[in-house]
Amino acid sequence: MLGGRMLHGGDYNPDQWLEYPKVFEEDVRLMKEAGVNCVSLGIFAWASLEPEEGRYEFDWLDHIITRLGEEDIQVILATPSGAMPHWLTQKYPEVMQVQADGRRNLPGKRHNFCYTSPVMRQKIQALDRALAQRFGRRDNVILWHISNELGGNFGDSTCHCELCQEAFREWLKKKYGTLENLNRAWWNHFWSHTYTDWSQIHSPGPYGEITSTALILDWRRFSTDQISDFCEMEIRTVKEASDLPATANFMDFFKGLDYNRLKKGLDIISWDSYPFWHEQKDEVPAAVRTAANHSVMRALKKAPFLLMESTPSGISWRQANPLKRPGMHMLASMQAVAHGSDSVLYFQWRKGRGGYEKFHGAVLDHKNGSNTRTFRDVTEVGRRLAALGDRLDQTVNRPKAAIIFDWENWWAVEDTQGPRLDFDYVEWILSHYRAFWEAGIEADLVNMDADLSGYKLVAAPLNYLYKDGYADRVRAFVADGGIYVTTCFSGEVNETDLCYIGQHPLEDVLGIVPEEIDAPSDDFANSFTYDGKTYRAFDLCGIVHAKADTEVLSVYEKDFYAGCPAVTRNSFGKGEAYYLAAESDLEFLRAFYGDVFQRAGLENPLCAELPYGVTVTERTGMDGRKFVFVMNFRNEPVCVEGIGSRTDAESGAVYENRLELRAFQCVLLEG
Ligand code: GLA
Ligand code: ZN
Repeated sequence: MLGGRMLHGGDYNPDQWLEYPKVFEEDVRLMKEAGVNCVSLGIFAWASLEPEEGRYEFDWLDHIITRLGEEDIQVILATPSGAMPHWLTQKYPEVMQVQADGRRNLPGKRHNFCYTSPVMRQKIQALDRALAQRFGRRDNVILWHISNELGGNFGDSTCHCELCQEAFREWLKKKYGTLENLNRAWWNHFWSHTYTDWSQIHSPGPYGEITSTALILDWRRFSTDQISDFCEMEIRTVKEASDLPATANFMDFFKGLDYNRLKKGLDIISWDSYPFWHEQKDEVPAAVRTAANHSVMRALKKAPFLLMESTPSGISWRQANPLKRPGMHMLASMQAVAHGSDSVLYFQWRKGRGGYEKFHGAVLDHKNGSNTRTFRDVTEVGRRLAALGDRLDQTVNRPKAAIIFDWENWWAVEDTQGPRLDFDYVEWILSHYRAFWEAGIEADLVNMDADLSGYKLVAAPLNYLYKDGYADRVRAFVADGGIYVTTCFSGEVNETDLCYIGQHPLEDVLGIVPEEIDAPSDDFANSFTYDGKTYRAFDLCGIVHAKADTEVLSVYEKDFYAGCPAVTRNSFGKGEAYYLAAESDLEFLRAFYGDVFQRAGLENPLCAELPYGVTVTERTGMDGRKFVFVMNFRNEPVCVEGIGSRTDAESGAVYENRLELRAFQCVLLEG
């Protein structure tokens, strides 16, 4: 993607080491030894780049970029808005965020500036402009890294200051035009919440409005827009003096920001992956979550992405931080590549001597130079990526299945008071995704705006909110031969959390008429039998009626809704739609999707049954090249049988019908 090679390297913070002149030359030497070909510079370097207002000091950075260039090491150059210098917060307190309860933050930490503040915008713009003018056309500078983990301020990504309140009101005026429209869309006559003046509108907060779900939804949308606007302002600024593409590093299922909005200004998607490996003996849940994240990132632009950060060792911000067990660093790195990453990058190259993250795993530890297990693991990854670089160039995964994963739905379903208050949308998504992952069926995780036409199968679990036009897109998708799966508590509300009245928007496609929803406690759990096996129905049990032509594949077996459909299938146009009225467990989802994959004609790239803990995915090129990644997430050897005759894409070895995988091994086959 970027120069035909797989990027290997990561965050490099030499600004912390300027008083240790020998360190830099040692870094360069060891980077070469570890197969590092790319580093990200300047992410938190504002105070070093602009030690006092308007006085820029770039010579140190110039020296580093030039010297790295001599060694053929490329640079991802950051704009340093991720952390603010003290001179800035002291002189201009408006740059510091205000929390939901109205208190302004004190200086310090990071990722905590006000996205609206004109001062913040002017100051960073001036610095970005100067950086771009000096470095934006250097040969070895390849990409802009905008800020850092936008919105990632320990949970609350938004600022509630007066500037932001005013910007919110303006945003609402633009969206609704009149207060009457807004009151109607938000159902404000409930509890006399009717606004009679725009200035009455205030962001949601702990001592204020937390019950208006439509307000909260719009506040989240506004915050996403505001942060995206800030990011786009930075991108425009650096691009005034440079033609480089831009990225911003995203996070693991980050609820605070709709990445489908933020992606619009970006050329390349990248993300920071810190799975909780070795938290339990079964690594499958961590592997599934990580794979799902990779699939979100790839699907955002349907293109290769960058693994911008990962740890080669352990993290430092959980109660307990296990080290990566032998084999896991290679496997986790290859997993990213398998799902479409064109890089394996780390946070960070060298552990800091002090500060908050001094014990977070890095390529170089405080001691022992290159003579460490971690350094050897990293070097091995470097070697493997170097050999793969130009072969994987221009290839990416092109799944035939998709799962709807939509931020607006996430926000809405978890904020609403409904049959349950404990919805965990990501867990729902992951439980469905896991059935795909175990079967080796790659899926894109796309939002409701996505073009569905290229898919054979689309699953939409807990799809509570329907965006405008979504039902029509699903209808066309199924009519055209697609297979659609959805669950109870889907299609309940529109974009402003107003319930659909009259009938379910996809009643014709699904072939069911929903009536009530039960949320039984464990004592009242129901059951249903599917394909000869009985499964538990719990937590959320939709009570629906099947229309005349709808096939009822299973019914509830207990309580007053015994005999009501639990699983249905309806033919519509050239396709069909499944409705899972009952929430059940993984065992059911495995069996159910096993059938659905067959009907959709979907098979994994090995056309083989996969042992537990093993998955497989494929990167293909437009020119027909195919690479199949087979990954074993078990800490013991396994054997995949029935694979036919396959060639190892790296060693050239031929496997006849069976492939033995070592513990935590990833094998790359020719497709
Ligand atoms: C995030 C940040 C990094 C670092 C790492 C490790 O991904 O972007 O700056 O803090 O986490 O904790
Ligand atoms: Zn603000």
